[in-house]
Amino acid sequence: MVYFWKPSTSPLSLLLLSSCVTAASVQDVISQRSELSMLNTLVNRFPNTLNQLNQGGGTLLAPSNTAISKLLLSAGIQDITTVPESTVQDLMSYHILNLTLQSADLRKKGGVTVDTTLLKDQYANLGGRPNVIFSSAFGSVGEAPTATALNIYSGVGDPANVTTTDIGFDRGFVHVIDSVLNLPIPCTQTAKAASLSTLLNALMVANLTSFVDTTPKFTCFAPTDAAFQEAGINISALTNDQVVDALKYHSIVGDVGYSTAFEDGQQYQTLLGVPVTITKRDGSLFINDVAVLQGNVMMSNGVAHVLSGVLSPVTAPKATQTVVVKTTPGSPSASSKPDAQSAQTTSSATSIAIPNMKIFFAIMIGLVSGITILIL
Ligand SMILES: *[C@@H]1O[C@H](CO)[C@@H](O)[C@H](O)[C@H]1NC(C)=O
Ligand SMILES: *[C@@H]1O[C@H](CO)[C@@H](O)[C@H](O)[C@H]1NC(C)=O
Ligand SMILES: *[C@@H]1O[C@H](CO)[C@@H](O)[C@H](O)[C@H]1NC(C)=O
Ligand SMILES: *[C@@H]1O[C@H](CO)[C@@H](O)[C@H](O)[C@H]1NC(C)=O
Repeated sequence: MVYFWKPSTSPLSLLLLSSCVTAASVQDVISQRSELSMLNTLVNRFPNTLNQLNQGGGTLLAPSNTAISKLLLSAGIQDITTVPESTVQDLMSYHILNLTLQSADLRKKGGVTVDTTLLKDQYANLGGRPNVIFSSAFGSVGEAPTATALNIYSGVGDPANVTTTDIGFDRGFVHVIDSVLNLPIPCTQTAKAASLSTLLNALMVANLTSFVDTTPKFTCFAPTDAAFQEAGINISALTNDQVVDALKYHSIVGDVGYSTAFEDGQQYQTLLGVPVTITKRDGSLFINDVAVLQGNVMMSNGVAHVLSGVLSPVTAPKATQTVVVKTTPGSPSASSKPDAQSAQTTSSATSIAIPNMKIFFAIMIGLVSGITILIL
């Protein structure tokens, strides 16, 4: 940009001009944009919420007035100045990414999983790591054939649309979003909020609610109610052990299986000790032969992928090599090295005891309606 000024311009105003142009703080940027006036009200009350951006720099996903109005309405709050500091602090920390990212970084095919600065245990039970967002212009698993709206996926609920991108400030970028990001909640609350009632019921029957809510770095493959129904599965007609084993086959523990952590064609160890095969094809992410309907639903202790079907080991392709999920969120532009650590063999995958395989397969044959296959 070229500036013309009259010779009469004083050195002082030049200094002010240049400081405005090159060194706008994130507060300046927020205060100068009319669509961010409500956010401005919040951060002016609690300026500490911007410390990370003022000191270390990073990226702010800035909720617009539309976004904040929607939140206040749904929470029944009439006066924005009554929102407590802890709420503003938690929300802001989830909207601040600890990396300087431009929209081109956020739009990459496949999507990107990015560290936020949300570290509070209640929302980030991830073994000391902050919780993340998933950013994608290719749908919830990043596999859509063509780019669509740039969306930010957070806790359970609709994704946020990015409406204005790449507003620079002295230490990073602001991107405006049209919904406030949903703070990640534990697994059973996520299932409840996502109306996955059959799964929730199965977790209660199996006495696994506390386990799935408190185990850090948990990945849940979550069939919809319709998926259970289509598979002809009636939870009440199964024994507890059958339900437990079926749920274990829908779970990964060890590192979080964001869609970006999965490599096409690889197998990943489940809690049951039997792997699932992940493929990325036809614009979708498949777990065995089951397509993910809604991917990357962030939970406080991991991630859920909502499935269009129920997983069954009898339909899983044969294992050739099984890898352990290795998550490296936070550095979408850095290529993660495919080293020995990211391809450990099955033996070190999990410390959970593998159940008696004959019993297990008998159970799974019972689970899969209309299929009778003799294994072993
Ligand atoms: C941001 O990243 C730096 C470098 O990795 C790290 O030292 C710092 O703790 C992070 N800050 C937050 C709030 O996550
Ligand atoms: C917001 O994102 C959704 C999901 O990708 C998309 O269907 C919708 O068209 C977007 N809305 C706008 C206004 O861009
Ligand atoms: C349910 O699981 C908890 C551990 O998560 C255990 O302490 C409790 O005894 C179990 N209850 C039953 C009825 O199995
Ligand atoms: C499910 O199984 C229970 C127990 O066997 C039975 O009472 C119930 O009618 C079944 N429900 C359906 C929809 O088949």
